[in-house]
Amino acid sequence: MRLCHIGCMRLSGAAIRKKRDAAACAQAPDPAALLAWYDRHRRRLPWRAAHGELPDAYGVWLSEIMLQQTTVKAVAPYYVTFLARWPTVEKLAAAPLDDVLKAWAGLGYYARARNLHACAKAVVEQHRGRFPASESALRALPGIGAYTAAAVAAIAFDQRAVAIDGNIERVIARLFAVEAALPAAKAEIGRSAETLVPQRRPGDFTQAMMDLGATICTPKKPACVLCPWMDVCAARQRGDQETFPRKAPKVEGRMRYGASFVAKRADGFVLVRSRPSKGLLGGMTEVPSTAWAHEFDPLSALAEAPLKAKWRRLPGVVEHGFTHFPLEQAVYVASVPAKSKAPDGMRWVALTELHGEALPNVMRKVVAHAGLDRR
Ligand code: ADE
Repeated sequence: MRLCHIGCMRLSGAAIRKKRDAAACAQAPDPAALLAWYDRHRRRLPWRAAHGELPDAYGVWLSEIMLQQTTVKAVAPYYVTFLARWPTVEKLAAAPLDDVLKAWAGLGYYARARNLHACAKAVVEQHRGRFPASESALRALPGIGAYTAAAVAAIAFDQRAVAIDGNIERVIARLFAVEAALPAAKAEIGRSAETLVPQRRPGDFTQAMMDLGATICTPKKPACVLCPWMDVCAARQRGDQETFPRKAPKVEGRMRYGASFVAKRADGFVLVRSRPSKGLLGGMTEVPSTAWAHEFDPLSALAEAPLKAKWRRLPGVVEHGFTHFPLEQAVYVASVPAKSKAPDGMRWVALTELHGEALPNVMRKVVAHAGLDRR
């Protein structure tokens, strides 16, 4: 390998490097090298067991649900709070859903909190409070998809499961210089990852991959010189590691439009409702709003206002980018008497309590646009 590596260095020069067949230089990455690196450099995280100990499955599961689409830094304080308040799966299952949703506020994607609670109940009712160890049994539980099942099986039960999150995807794509673009490359990345997971310490190996992706093999400016796999990384040998994983050109969604109706009651309440539990922003709170469509007609929008009132359209729009489309949202406001009743399926929330509601970012922008965040 040394000779090969030195040989590669001699060929340096962008054009030559790019054309080089990385596979000719690459040796198989050794999982033991990564584990040795992990033993020295592992991150201290609140859900991680001490070296040589198996962690508590409840804590592992809780952390994995929280970490879906959220950063380690954001999750850590929530994890500590949840565990102090509900130290066992039984306690969490027995908690009122509303308490769990409130404690979750700020982590986003509230369907996850609902599933968290449903999963805790299922573990208590179907598994006598013990998380199952197999990936297939874990997957059958609410809110546990393929990634989470593999992560929990590996980390909590030391099973040889292959968990691939965005960080691990990047590590593997670089290690093997996977040319296919995401998301099509996922299958190839999965197969390559599977070849690496060792028989011994698969749970630590999974966490080591996570740490490598988060701290060394970062999206921009990876710290390759500190990487235990530097010499065997195919992308590093080509010198274009930052270009992996390859991504298909972004499809820009067509603009959509909608309107939100902010009804303020004279006694300091605002009208809200919960979105349907399935679909975009499932189960989250919103001020009553129209559907998002490719055209906007103010008269048709006003026909969907939740209450009879003097609706006033605020200047400007709220702009928001969803994954698949950009949105422009008109905001209408109205003041209504204190005794106004909430229409079916809606409820009044005190303005002072609004921040504790499961408001998605687009709705936080809407209430800010209406000036309600300044109270
Ligand atoms: N990201 C997802 N799961 C994680 C874990 N268990 N540790 C660190 N980062 C993670």
